Amino acid sequence: MVMNLEKVVPFGRSLDEYIKMFNLTENDFKKSILSVADGPASFNAEGTKLGYKINSVDPLYIFSGEEIKRRFCAVVDDIIKQVENTPNDWVWSYHKSPQNLRKNREKVIALFCADYEIGKKDNRYNIGQLPRLKYDKNQYELGLVSHFLFLYSAHFDQQFHINSIDEILRICREVRIFPLITLQNKISPYLQFIITYLENKGYKCKLEKVSYQLQRGGNQMLIITK
Ligand SMILES: C[S@@+](CC[C@H](N)C(=O)[O-])C[C@H]1O[C@@H](n2cnc3c(N)ncnc32)[C@H](O)[C@@H]1O
Repeated sequence: MVMNLEKVVPFGRSLDEYIKMFNLTENDFKKSILSVADGPASFNAEGTKLGYKINSVDPLYIFSGEEIKRRFCAVVDDIIKQVENTPNDWVWSYHKSPQNLRKNREKVIALFCADYEIGKKDNRYNIGQLPRLKYDKNQYELGLVSHFLFLYSAHFDQQFHINSIDEILRICREVRIFPLITLQNKISPYLQFIITYLENKGYKCKLEKVSYQLQRGGNQMLIITK
């Protein structure tokens, strides 16, 4: 598996952000969860402490915690500056300000790093890369994808999205994806085609509003059920 760390923006989100991005309920946390493209989020670290059954998969996990943290430190100033320079692109209901966003991201990567080695030993952080993952059919009840599919529509084409979603649906009984907009804050050009494709295969697709919003217009998730 080839992955160039220089190309990765190792920004991760917290358990609270995952709860709000995916409308997660107490009942959802009784399920086995696979968080795909989970990167340096603290969802797994924080959730495991609360007794939840969360597995994370990401190609990033070929790197050590130190390497991931170093990459975060190398890019954080620049990213926060870009955010400050594009004030109309962001909604501050959750993070309040660019500087607070930075603090929240620092907190998340610290929680991730503190859990990462033990989590790897416990098999909670698995190296894996869409569109093919090494899990069994129906191994998980709920699959989550935060800030990867649809967001990077300019980097990954429609066929990659279809193959990836088919693969996650092979593994998980239900899949939720957030956000549905691209890095340019536009609805992904693949979204409608993919919904039609999935419905023709017999899946139920639902667009659901969520309370989390940072990218302006990014407050909807896609729920796919069998
Ligand atoms: C913006 S981060 C999101 C991290 C986390 N889901 C969150 O929301 O905090 C995107 C993640 O996608 C991962 N990624 C890149 N290519 C991937 C692939 N082919 N399959 C799975 N994950 C991939 C990156 O390594 C990175 O960790």
